[in-house]
Amino acid sequence: MSEKSPRLRAELDGVPTYKPGKPAAEGGPVAYKLSSNENPYPPLPGVLERAVAAAGSFNRYPDMACTGLMNELSDRFGVPLSHLATGTGSVGVAQQLLQATAGVGDEVIYAWRSFEAYPIITQVSGATSVQVPLTGDEVHDLDAMADAITERTRLIFVCNPNNPTGTVVHRAELERFLDRVPGDVLVVLDEAYREFIRDAEVPDGIELYRDRPNVCVLRTFSKAYGLAGLRVGFAIAHEPVAAALRKTAVPFGVSQLAQEAAVASLRSEDELLGRVGSLVAERARVVDSLRGQGWTVPETQANFVWLRLGERTLDFAAACEQAGVVIRPFAGEGVRVSIGETEANDLFVQTAGTFLKES
Ligand SMILES: Cc1ncc(COP(=O)(O)O)c(C=O)c1O
Repeated sequence: MSEKSPRLRAELDGVPTYKPGKPAAEGGPVAYKLSSNENPYPPLPGVLERAVAAAGSFNRYPDMACTGLMNELSDRFGVPLSHLATGTGSVGVAQQLLQATAGVGDEVIYAWRSFEAYPIITQVSGATSVQVPLTGDEVHDLDAMADAITERTRLIFVCNPNNPTGTVVHRAELERFLDRVPGDVLVVLDEAYREFIRDAEVPDGIELYRDRPNVCVLRTFSKAYGLAGLRVGFAIAHEPVAAALRKTAVPFGVSQLAQEAAVASLRSEDELLGRVGSLVAERARVVDSLRGQGWTVPETQANFVWLRLGERTLDFAAACEQAGVVIRPFAGEGVRVSIGETEANDLFVQTAGTFLKES
């Protein structure tokens, strides 16, 4: 056998690995998974039926152009077909955006801490991450992000609401920021949790993109629509960007099951958004209970809460796991806990209360 091994791109050295939320432990007395910001509700019967019907022809390739889904999205959001692009989850679309805009020597700006895929997909593209710390209130520091723009900047992520803190940026500050970004730098408004927002001051990215050719909106079917396992997300952007996304897409990346389920979900939107409403009510209940116990909880507009625990992070995660709730720790920083079924939320709140008393 040769001593040599295939030469790999140096940019891959040290790429952080994406840590998926831990699954709930098997065989325990109770086991709830609040570690991946998933939708706790099972698929709607009508959506499931349509996906199952599509499964009957999975010997065939899917419709590469996602025609049915694209038409549905175009009607639903009032955007031309040429401004739409789909991908394998919004993280897939985010990766396509990087492939389309950035490479070695270029810079990508995003807040930190934010969605953990940003550093990974940036490094894989060969570009350099420029991480701008969140403010003391766990919010994007848009002034500092604008100050960080250089001639090398190609793309900026604004995660609104931010994962993992749940915090948002408001219309006036976002517009002021966008006005400062040069037209040849792409701003990606990652709105994976858009449907959970109840703060009227948070702008809908789709309104902002309309007269701003350098703004791209990322959305997903994984969260509010409950299709995380099927991998389908989409971008809304002006034509050159959307066209570049179609060029960088993995051919046939979005399965027919995913396409059909996404169409069925858009047609069952009232019911799905009703479920989102229940989760939002649960969110308020969890936040109020935690604050009542004495925790500092940043205002969240997503389907999760953030507790900055610092050095106590892993102990807290272990206590939750022991109680039967799996959450997402970021060692040395804090924990992100998804809003799930009522019993899971109760168990988490109860564990948090005990932890606070004992620490
Ligand atoms: C901010 C943000 N963007 C994008 C995604 C990716 O979601 P998906 O690829 O399932 O659409 C996530 C998932 O957790 C997220 O938190």
